[in-house]
Amino acid sequence: MKLETPRLLLREWRDTDREAFAAIVGDPHVMRFYPATRSRAEADAWIDKMIAGLANGTAHFLAVERKSDGAMLGLTGTADINFPIPTDPKLEIGWVLGKDYWGQGYAPEAARAVLEHAFTQLRAPEVAAFTAQVNLPSQRVMQKLGLVRDPSADFEHPRIAAGHPLRPHVLYRIANPNT
Ligand SMILES: CC(C)(COP(=O)(O)OP(=O)(O)OC[C@H]1O[C@@H](n2cnc3c(N)ncnc32)[C@H](O)[C@@H]1OP(=O)(O)O)[C@@H](O)C(=O)NCCC(=O)NCCS
Repeated sequence: MKLETPRLLLREWRDTDREAFAAIVGDPHVMRFYPATRSRAEADAWIDKMIAGLANGTAHFLAVERKSDGAMLGLTGTADINFPIPTDPKLEIGWVLGKDYWGQGYAPEAARAVLEHAFTQLRAPEVAAFTAQVNLPSQRVMQKLGLVRDPSADFEHPRIAAGHPLRPHVLYRIANPNT
């Protein structure tokens, strides 16, 4: 699977991405809205999971490559939602980029192509995005993509401990305009 935008190539994972990906998800600033950074082994396992998801069709997370220099910026894609949340979208969209690449509109540019894929190829009736209530940069990306927050769908993340500041989550959603 491959998607293209003016500045970016969204492509399947290569072994040569592993070092750059581990540096991104091992960076405490990048991961400040996640419960923990990832070790090299955990980063490798994350890539392996994305490769498996692409193979079995349960997730479509791709490596984001900058066309101008071939740099691997991070990930974006969709996945089946596999834990109970209070509303019914079945597909989530998400993104993580290395901090050297922030603030240049790369995440919304890449994610726009992913949304198009979700609507036209996966024929998802609706796509959701969720993040910690305190993760405002990610919510800005959701807003730029046209997702709208559904306050009635705020939820406590079931995999984050009660009382943890990252546990309260917000959910944004967008309906497939083609259905
Ligand atoms: C969320 C993320 C993907 C945004 O990517 P991006 O390519 O920088 O997106 P944009 O350029 O559109 O910027 C989005 C917002 O990020 C914030 N931002 C931009 N540059 C930033 C920087 N250097 N430091 C902190 N925040 C920044 C701004 O709020 C910006 O909104 P604005 O354009 O209205 O000013 C990126 O910040 C990231 O990877 N964060 C860490 C991982 C993460 O939280 N992923 C989401 C998990 S649900």
